[in-house]
Amino acid sequence: MISIQDVHMVYPGGRGRRAVPALLGVDLKLADGEFVSVVGPSGCGKSTLLHLVAGFGRPTEGNILVDGRLVRGPGADRAVVFQQAALYPWLSVAENIGFGLRIHGLRGEEYKRKVSDYLAIMGLEAFARHAPYELSGGMRQRAAIARALITQPEIMLMDEPFGALDAQTRNEMQRFLLRLWRTLRPTVLFVTHDVEEAILLGDRVVVMTARPGKIAVDLAVPFARPREWDLVLTPEFVEVKRQVLSVLRPELESAEHLERLMSGIGGEGELDT
Ligand SMILES: Nc1ncnc2c1ncn2[C@@H]1O[C@H](COP(=O)(O)OP(=O)(O)O)[C@@H](O)[C@H]1O
Ligand SMILES: [Mg+2]
Repeated sequence: MISIQDVHMVYPGGRGRRAVPALLGVDLKLADGEFVSVVGPSGCGKSTLLHLVAGFGRPTEGNILVDGRLVRGPGADRAVVFQQAALYPWLSVAENIGFGLRIHGLRGEEYKRKVSDYLAIMGLEAFARHAPYELSGGMRQRAAIARALITQPEIMLMDEPFGALDAQTRNEMQRFLLRLWRTLRPTVLFVTHDVEEAILLGDRVVVMTARPGKIAVDLAVPFARPREWDLVLTPEFVEVKRQVLSVLRPELESAEHLERLMSGIGGEGELDT
């Protein structure tokens, strides 16, 4: 479904800024309906990778294929969910959720029915006419996910979607996402900095190296679904977590080291990052 082939990405420099190598030869394949989690140090190029799959930019080198076709720009087959729910503040919750349908020209009864279906799935019926700012963080993120899913994209690209939520809401959202995924079966590329979340949700966990990012390890998660939440307490889970951390920790350290170099005393760092 998604094939990322030897992808390099360098953000060009200029005007006193150095070029930033963000990705250094990333190879990754996602099968149809697969859920793949990506973890890696901050700044290693996770968002960059997601944006390239979304078609928001083109890699400096290498190719990204979706369903065998080269990605040349954004498409209705790929929906993106960001950490901060990007809802339109001037539209109601229902209008936000229905936005993609309108773009596709859907109107009338069918539009109304779909929007109310998704409001119901997300438990947001009572908030249909509310403005986004009237919702809690978790509700806003549910609305953003509904908006992404309503056009039934084959692929969901999620960039730390629950990173800004409190622990309990995050947990609810994880269950919720898994339920949705089991029903609709999109292919999911899920970026998180939470290792437990990565393992709990994913069929595979991909660990990226410090910048410029490449893939350090690609681990199959051995747990059957549906997964219960106390799975995280089992020795088997802890063992998988240990495996992920054994690769991730050194990368976190070298990212920190890089960070220190960049922001070093004398602080020309601003220009470098
Ligand atoms: N538009 C951009 N222009 C220049 N540098 C960028 C741009 N976007 C990201 N970067 C840099 O590329 C690197 C990777 O960024 P990003 O993909 O956001 O990492 P992550 O999501 O893993 O934290 C970082 O060093 C970041 O500062
Ligand atoms: Mg990011």
